[in-house]
Amino acid sequence: MANGLLQGKKGIIFGALDSKSIAWKVAERCVEEGAKIVLTNAPVAMRLGEINELATKLQCQIIPADATNLADLENLISQSMEILGGKLDFVLHSIGMSVNVRKKKDYTDLNYDWMQTTFDVSAISFHKVMQVAMKHDAMNEWGSILALSYIAAQRTFPDYSEMAESKALLESFARSFGYHWAKKARVRVNTISQSPTITTAGSGVKGFTDFFGYAEKMSPLGNAGADACADYCVAMFSDLTRMVTMQNLFHDGGFSSMGMAPELIET
Ligand SMILES: NC(=O)c1ccc[n+]([C@@H]2O[C@H](COP(=O)([O-])OP(=O)(O)OC[C@H]3O[C@@H](n4cnc5c(N)ncnc54)[C@H](O)[C@@H]3O)[C@@H](O)[C@H]2O)c1
Repeated sequence: MANGLLQGKKGIIFGALDSKSIAWKVAERCVEEGAKIVLTNAPVAMRLGEINELATKLQCQIIPADATNLADLENLISQSMEILGGKLDFVLHSIGMSVNVRKKKDYTDLNYDWMQTTFDVSAISFHKVMQVAMKHDAMNEWGSILALSYIAAQRTFPDYSEMAESKALLESFARSFGYHWAKKARVRVNTISQSPTITTAGSGVKGFTDFFGYAEKMSPLGNAGADACADYCVAMFSDLTRMVTMQNLFHDGGFSSMGMAPELIET
């Protein structure tokens, strides 16, 4: 179903770990729509994940970068512009990790050093990517920068723990930096608030499988899958959404507007 929506566009995609990753699907769809991309992930993910397979398939390069490390980001942005032959049109930040969730710490007994790392990886890295890109004057006019979020930024999902605050921070960075990017180069910055999706990061949350089923019933259209999320990202990178900025966009089959689902009461 390719329509050449991203023909001639160039971008960086963070966060493709394996074929379940949302970023993996986005990378595939962007290339299908005519974009040239660079893939990036943390050096450790190069060893554990399958990103090399994706790069071979899409015939694109990988530049390792820890998204919390400014020197890595400087190198990523300048090398990407060289490889792609000019400034960027889009960036996807698809990064999330909670140390306290990984180590199964209760929300009422969090380790604050770990929390700092969680915020740095999952949210502050988004500010860092945008700041480094701005310092390098790396974005073309009418470019598009996206990050992936979750509705726990607005509502309470007890097992999501400190990732809720990470996502609230992430969405706030999109609004605040969105102003500066708009003024500098008419670049738009948004977050997409995605349904629960079966991926490595998603499945790390306690009770994920049960909750996935609950959200499926609560959403009139069902959960939005990773492929549908990739389609939405393509739309947000395309010229068809040039005036949308500083928004948190729900991509959740209707979940966020529901109050009560009769289907859930029946079961
Ligand atoms: N899966 C879900 O249910 C769901 C729902 C809503 C939003 N999201 C968000 O979507 C995004 C992508 O997650 P996913 O579900 O595809 O899982 P995933 O595990 O496939 O992707 C997470 C990625 O973050 C990368 N990462 C971790 N630390 C990093 C660092 N320091 N530097 C660079 N990269 C780093 C990992 O290597 C991995 O590729 C995350 O922001 C996640 O919070 C996921």
